[in-house]
Amino acid sequence: MPLLEVHNLSMRYTTLRGIVKALEGVSFSVNEGETLAVVGETGSGKSTLAKAIVRVLEENAKIVSGEIIFDGVDILKLSEEEFRRNYRWVKIAMVPQGSMNSLNPVLKIMDQMIEPLVLRGISKIDAIKIAGDALESVGLTRDVLTKYPHQLSGGMKQRVIIAMAIQSRPKLVILDEPTSALDVMTQANIMNLLKRLRREFKLSYVFITHDLALASELADKVLVLYAGKVAELGSADLIYTEPKHPYTQGLMSSIPTLREDKKLSFIPGEVPSLINPPSGCRFHPRCPYAMDICRREEPPLITLDNDHKVACWLYSK
Ligand SMILES: Nc1ncnc2c1ncn2[C@@H]1O[C@H](COP(=O)(O)OP(=O)(O)O)[C@@H](O)[C@H]1O
Ligand SMILES: [Mg+2]
Repeated sequence: MPLLEVHNLSMRYTTLRGIVKALEGVSFSVNEGETLAVVGETGSGKSTLAKAIVRVLEENAKIVSGEIIFDGVDILKLSEEEFRRNYRWVKIAMVPQGSMNSLNPVLKIMDQMIEPLVLRGISKIDAIKIAGDALESVGLTRDVLTKYPHQLSGGMKQRVIIAMAIQSRPKLVILDEPTSALDVMTQANIMNLLKRLRREFKLSYVFITHDLALASELADKVLVLYAGKVAELGSADLIYTEPKHPYTQGLMSSIPTLREDKKLSFIPGEVPSLINPPSGCRFHPRCPYAMDICRREEPPLITLDNDHKVACWLYSK
């Protein structure tokens, strides 16, 4: 049984300029111990997906359809109280995008780490022990508990955030661009840490990144998201050796430049506004193979051999 199953998830944001169709019919699953990488450029809906799973959506966000099944339970149907008590930060943890820069500057690391534990009824003494153990698991010393964020390097702050995510021994950790603000060396160290923690604590990951090359270091499966829709989904082996969607192919061919954080050189243009997405296939304005039908009709998600899925008219028979 999959640990996490997302079925047909659609999400909207209401804004003054209109309705943002941030996710449209997104489906995928993650088995126990597996890592799913979610890859796509900025604006493709990756963070929205992460926030939907842990239910930390902004006021203007709305889930308009879909189910999120975790460990057999439809967690969208749970009350907030039940979800907070047994799921968020307990069984499902998240490292939010940019979170290392949102540590509270006036609170010691200890106070920030134990707060969610104490809220769950754990005594302060036990919570401090749990937080200290978690810091040691991520390669920090317990004395970090008494430090303030400004006394730590970027890499250390990111380790603190990861320690907070794993301290309740979750089954699933959602990592939203966990290394994007870090230099290359620190990024490599954090990637190694994530690999070790996954082994040690038998974690499943949803690893979100705009960097397909980085994803290859952890991914068992890859979901390519484009403008709020699944472009391609399959085992990492298939996605890296036989990318089918022109967008995935473009991402692949720009890997060397992506790593240097340059603009995609092989896919001109950018992710469209999701208020008025392009007709038909949302990728057609940037696609070198666009045909008539691509402008008119949305492509279905086509299943190829080995459960490899691609939303592209090129593969329709
Ligand atoms: N709180 C919000 N209100 C309105 N629009 C939003 C909000 N958050 C994200 N969006 C829009 O939703 C789309 C997806 O954003 P996001 O999930 O952050 O993508 P990613 O993480 O892939 O960069 C973008 O068009 C973005 O502008
Ligand atoms: Mg994001």
